[in-house]
Amino acid sequence: MTIEPIAQSHERLLIIDFGSQVTQLIARRLREQNVYCEIHPYQNVDAAFLAEFDPKAVIFSGGPDSVMREGSPRPPRAVYDLGVPIMGICYGQQVMMQDLGGTVEAGEHATAEFGRAYVTKTTAQSDFVDGWFSAEDGREQVWMSHGDHVSKIADGFEVLGTSPGAPFAITADVNRRFYAVQFHPEVHHTPNGAQLYKNFLSIAGFRGDWTMAGYRDQAVAAIREQVGDAKVICGLSGGVDSSVAAALIHEAIGDQLTCVFVDHGLLRMGEAEEVVTMFRDHMNLSVIHAQEQDLFLGALEGISDPEVKRKTIGKLFIDVFQKYADGIEGAAFLAQGTLYPDVIESVSFSGGPSVTIKSHHNVGGLPEKMGLKLVEPLRELFKDEVRALGRELGLPAHFIGRHPFPGPGLAIRCPGEITREKLEILRKADAVYIDQIRKHGLYDEIWQAFVAILPVRTVGVMGDGRTYDYACALRAVTSVDGMTADYYPFSHDFLGETATRIINEVKGINRVTYDITSKPPGTIEWE
Ligand code: XMP
Repeated sequence: MTIEPIAQSHERLLIIDFGSQVTQLIARRLREQNVYCEIHPYQNVDAAFLAEFDPKAVIFSGGPDSVMREGSPRPPRAVYDLGVPIMGICYGQQVMMQDLGGTVEAGEHATAEFGRAYVTKTTAQSDFVDGWFSAEDGREQVWMSHGDHVSKIADGFEVLGTSPGAPFAITADVNRRFYAVQFHPEVHHTPNGAQLYKNFLSIAGFRGDWTMAGYRDQAVAAIREQVGDAKVICGLSGGVDSSVAAALIHEAIGDQLTCVFVDHGLLRMGEAEEVVTMFRDHMNLSVIHAQEQDLFLGALEGISDPEVKRKTIGKLFIDVFQKYADGIEGAAFLAQGTLYPDVIESVSFSGGPSVTIKSHHNVGGLPEKMGLKLVEPLRELFKDEVRALGRELGLPAHFIGRHPFPGPGLAIRCPGEITREKLEILRKADAVYIDQIRKHGLYDEIWQAFVAILPVRTVGVMGDGRTYDYACALRAVTSVDGMTADYYPFSHDFLGETATRIINEVKGINRVTYDITSKPPGTIEWE
């Protein structure tokens, strides 16, 4: 399976993926330099693919295999005859060396390197390492992760940098513009790594023509061509991805788009009104506000098992979405906010066979059931590019920068049985907490923050009276992708002030705790 590129008019770089855990980071580093790139697993890349893709440069990723193993992953030989610059990283470096006549040896203790290492400059000169080595001591910190190592470099290459375990840490054949590094310049622990990519792109002559303004025009044209005069339905969740997808599609086809916003009664304070007002009144989108609070809350009555809650919400969500979508006559397309990481996952040789459908507010399975085709205008973009595109389309900054919010909403922040009373208390406490975070200028430092209302009431004293009210837990985490997370280190002053405000301002809560669990072992949400 290959991905149909829509970015034909951009200068393109091809990343051939040999299975490294961090290949996506290479793409991130390049996109940050306004260069369009695509990751394709090595099995999908042959001479015909190269001719069609027509890359301006190629990068070989790292990978877990050993080039000394018979049948280990290779690029097609034709890649070396394209006449474009190539950069090999780790496994990619070893592949390049072996393909071009060098030698790779198995790692022994003396040469295997994992973790932080320092590369020292040689006397050889190349634009590839321009501005890279520290001016102070001529060495640079890098992140290594290799067992095997290159023991003889191919003809035409010279050494630009060495490390104790990798005598050929950076090599280059400047005539052919082939560059190879043993370490991973894309990771955080190679602090100056972006400079190497910058140099490589400059050698390859990239102009940096990948911008969200350009993407917007091109995507609008592509959507018009795909959809023609058919109608499109979009499930609006209020999250960034579906919001940006809706705004973009609306720009392309106007009234042919109808959005369905399912209000399950588990949203935060003022959220439904904010989303509907913004899209319907300010952006003139056709939005159906499906007021189904009674349906959802009724079905959830008496349920306290987290999985049963999730399944109940997920199933109802699909039923409700379908009911409203069925009422939109002539709909032929369903819009989805699929992002590039999901696409890579679905085509990578280590990934699953299909796009990962993340959650309940996604309407997985519906397109086939309803005979709808998909419009996925964000499938080339990373999350921060989606945010940039959202700004480009005029969505308000505070909306674009909002913390993620789960499909099942407040249901999974209300352990135990859900009642309307508890949801009301939770909404108020959450609003005070987020207000505190914003007032202290901490919102953007935090990946996600929310209040969970606990299924326990405790005794307190307010004024001269006894109280017997709910306890709540504040949660705030830092994270890059939600897969791992750490609790946010608020000051005691902040926590004290916030607890006081919640207890004073929210009737029904008389005790506030702070959750200091990281993920793992905890999860971010409470259920
Ligand atoms: P956990 O709790 O698994 O959450 O550590 C990781 C991230 O995923 C969000 N989350 C969900 N998002 N549907 C969603 O759309 C869900 O069912 C769901 N469950 C968790 C969570 O808010 C956090 O950002």
